[in-house]
Amino acid sequence: MGARWIKLSVVYLAVGIGFGLFMHATVQLQWAATHAHINVVGWLTTATIGVIYSVYPRAGETALAKTQFWLYNIGLPILLVGMFIIYVPSLKFMLQPVVWIGGSAVALSVLLFLINVWRNVHGKRGY
Ligand code: HEM
Repeated sequence: MGARWIKLSVVYLAVGIGFGLFMHATVQLQWAATHAHINVVGWLTTATIGVIYSVYPRAGETALAKTQFWLYNIGLPILLVGMFIIYVPSLKFMLQPVVWIGGSAVALSVLLFLINVWRNVHGKRGY
Protein backbone atom coordinates (compact mmCIF):
# COMPACT_ATOMS: atom_id res chain seq x y z
CA MET A 1 0.00 0.00 0.00
CA GLY A 2 2.92 2.37 0.67
CA ALA A 3 3.90 2.57 -3.00
CA ARG A 4 0.38 3.58 -4.02
CA TRP A 5 0.37 6.47 -1.55
CA ILE A 6 3.80 7.61 -2.74
CA LYS A 7 2.76 7.48 -6.41
CA LEU A 8 -0.31 9.60 -5.68
CA SER A 9 1.74 12.07 -3.63
CA VAL A 10 3.95 13.01 -6.59
CA VAL A 11 0.82 13.72 -8.66
CA TYR A 12 -0.16 16.26 -5.98
CA LEU A 13 3.36 17.71 -6.07
CA ALA A 14 3.14 18.24 -9.83
CA VAL A 15 -0.39 19.72 -9.61
CA GLY A 16 0.59 21.92 -6.63
CA ILE A 17 3.65 23.32 -8.35
CA GLY A 18 1.72 23.85 -11.59
CA PHE A 19 -0.97 25.68 -9.65
CA GLY A 20 1.69 27.78 -7.87
CA LEU A 21 3.21 28.75 -11.21
CA PHE A 22 -0.26 29.67 -12.52
CA MET A 23 -0.89 31.87 -9.44
CA HIS A 24 2.48 33.52 -9.85
CA ALA A 25 2.10 34.09 -13.60
CA THR A 26 -1.40 35.54 -13.35
CA VAL A 27 -0.84 37.26 -9.98
CA GLN A 28 -3.97 35.58 -8.62
CA LEU A 29 -2.71 35.06 -5.11
CA GLN A 30 -6.13 34.56 -3.54
CA TRP A 31 -5.72 30.81 -4.00
CA ALA A 32 -2.67 30.62 -1.71
CA ALA A 33 -4.50 28.44 0.85
CA THR A 34 -5.69 26.06 -1.89
CA HIS A 35 -2.16 25.85 -3.29
CA ALA A 36 -0.78 25.26 0.23
CA HIS A 37 -3.28 22.42 0.83
CA ILE A 38 -2.46 20.72 -2.49
CA ASN A 39 1.21 20.79 -1.54
CA VAL A 40 1.09 20.20 2.20
CA VAL A 41 -1.86 17.79 2.49
CA GLY A 42 -1.63 16.39 -1.05
CA TRP A 43 2.13 16.04 -1.43
CA LEU A 44 3.71 16.04 2.03
CA THR A 45 1.02 14.28 4.08
CA THR A 46 0.27 11.68 1.40
CA ALA A 47 3.98 10.95 0.96
CA THR A 48 4.49 10.65 4.71
CA ILE A 49 1.65 8.12 4.99
CA GLY A 50 3.22 6.23 2.08
CA VAL A 51 6.61 6.15 3.78
CA ILE A 52 5.05 4.95 7.07
CA TYR A 53 3.25 2.12 5.25
CA SER A 54 6.47 1.27 3.40
CA VAL A 55 8.39 1.02 6.67
CA TYR A 56 5.54 -0.94 8.29
CA PRO A 57 4.03 -2.89 5.37
CA ARG A 58 1.75 -5.02 7.54
CA ALA A 59 -0.01 -1.93 8.83
CA GLY A 60 -0.53 -0.85 5.22
CA GLU A 61 -2.37 -4.06 4.31
CA THR A 62 -5.10 -4.03 6.97
CA ALA A 63 -8.79 -3.41 6.20
CA LEU A 64 -8.48 -0.16 8.16
CA ALA A 65 -5.63 0.98 5.89
CA LYS A 66 -7.63 0.17 2.76
CA THR A 67 -10.71 2.04 3.98
CA GLN A 68 -8.48 4.92 4.99
CA PHE A 69 -6.88 4.98 1.54
CA TRP A 70 -10.17 5.33 -0.31
CA LEU A 71 -11.68 7.87 2.09
CA TYR A 72 -8.58 10.05 1.82
CA ASN A 73 -8.04 9.77 -1.89
CA ILE A 74 -11.67 10.40 -2.78
CA GLY A 75 -12.16 13.04 -0.08
CA LEU A 76 -9.05 15.11 -0.70
CA PRO A 77 -9.68 15.99 -4.38
CA ILE A 78 -13.26 16.94 -3.41
CA LEU A 79 -11.96 19.13 -0.58
CA LEU A 80 -9.44 20.81 -2.88
CA VAL A 81 -12.10 21.51 -5.52
CA GLY A 82 -14.15 23.06 -2.70
CA MET A 83 -11.22 25.26 -1.70
CA PHE A 84 -10.80 26.29 -5.34
CA ILE A 85 -14.42 27.36 -5.87
CA ILE A 86 -14.27 29.76 -2.93
CA TYR A 87 -13.08 32.33 -5.47
CA VAL A 88 -15.35 31.30 -8.37
CA PRO A 89 -18.47 33.42 -7.77
CA SER A 90 -20.79 31.37 -10.03
CA LEU A 91 -19.92 28.14 -8.17
CA LYS A 92 -19.78 29.53 -4.66
CA PHE A 93 -23.23 28.11 -3.79
CA MET A 94 -21.62 24.63 -3.87
CA LEU A 95 -18.87 25.55 -1.44
CA GLN A 96 -20.43 24.35 1.81
CA PRO A 97 -21.56 20.85 0.71
CA VAL A 98 -18.38 20.19 -1.26
CA VAL A 99 -16.03 21.21 1.56
CA TRP A 100 -18.14 19.33 4.13
CA ILE A 101 -18.16 16.11 2.09
CA GLY A 102 -14.47 16.23 1.13
CA GLY A 103 -13.27 17.52 4.49
CA SER A 104 -15.28 14.98 6.50
CA ALA A 105 -13.95 12.10 4.38
CA VAL A 106 -10.36 13.27 4.91
CA ALA A 107 -10.93 13.78 8.64
CA LEU A 108 -12.45 10.30 8.99
CA SER A 109 -9.57 8.84 7.02
CA VAL A 110 -7.09 10.45 9.40
CA LEU A 111 -9.00 9.01 12.37
CA LEU A 112 -8.71 5.52 10.81
CA PHE A 113 -5.00 6.20 10.18
CA LEU A 114 -4.52 7.06 13.85
CA ILE A 115 -6.28 3.84 14.95
CA ASN A 116 -4.38 1.77 12.39
CA VAL A 117 -0.98 3.16 13.37
CA TRP A 118 -1.62 2.65 17.09
CA ARG A 119 -2.89 -0.89 16.53
CA ASN A 120 -0.58 -2.16 13.81
CA VAL A 121 2.71 -0.27 13.91
CA HIS A 122 4.96 -2.14 16.32
CA GLY A 123 8.61 -2.15 17.28
CA LYS A 124 11.01 -4.91 16.36
CA ARG A 125 8.60 -7.86 16.40
CA GLY A 126 5.67 -6.29 14.62
CA TYR A 127 7.62 -5.47 11.41
C1 HEM B 1 7.34 26.08 -8.52
C2 HEM B 1 6.84 25.83 -7.31
C3 HEM B 1 5.94 26.79 -6.56
C4 HEM B 1 5.45 28.02 -6.92
C5 HEM B 1 5.63 28.80 -8.22
C6 HEM B 1 4.66 28.50 -5.80
C7 HEM B 1 3.97 29.70 -5.77
C8 HEM B 1 3.33 30.21 -4.67
C9 HEM B 1 2.63 31.49 -4.64
C10 HEM B 1 2.50 32.45 -5.81
C11 HEM B 1 2.13 31.64 -3.37
C12 HEM B 1 1.29 32.81 -2.85
C13 HEM B 1 2.19 33.81 -2.15
C14 HEM B 1 1.39 34.99 -1.60
O1 HEM B 1 0.17 34.89 -1.38
O2 HEM B 1 2.00 36.05 -1.42
C15 HEM B 1 2.51 30.45 -2.60
C16 HEM B 1 2.20 30.24 -1.27
C17 HEM B 1 2.49 29.08 -0.58
N1 HEM B 1 3.10 27.95 -1.07
FE1 HEM B 1 3.88 27.76 -2.93
N2 HEM B 1 4.71 27.55 -4.80
C18 HEM B 1 5.48 26.49 -5.21
C19 HEM B 1 5.74 25.31 -4.52
C20 HEM B 1 5.30 25.03 -3.23
C21 HEM B 1 5.56 23.79 -2.50
C22 HEM B 1 6.33 22.60 -3.08
C23 HEM B 1 4.97 23.92 -1.28
C24 HEM B 1 4.89 22.96 -0.12
C25 HEM B 1 5.45 21.76 -0.09
C26 HEM B 1 4.35 25.24 -1.23
C27 HEM B 1 3.68 25.74 -0.15
C28 HEM B 1 3.17 27.02 -0.06
C29 HEM B 1 2.58 27.58 1.13
C30 HEM B 1 2.46 26.87 2.49
C31 HEM B 1 2.16 28.87 0.82
C32 HEM B 1 1.52 29.90 1.74
C33 HEM B 1 0.00 29.84 1.65
C34 HEM B 1 -0.64 30.94 2.47
O3 HEM B 1 0.01 31.90 2.87
O4 HEM B 1 -1.86 30.85 2.67
N3 HEM B 1 4.57 25.87 -2.44
N4 HEM B 1 3.24 29.60 -3.42
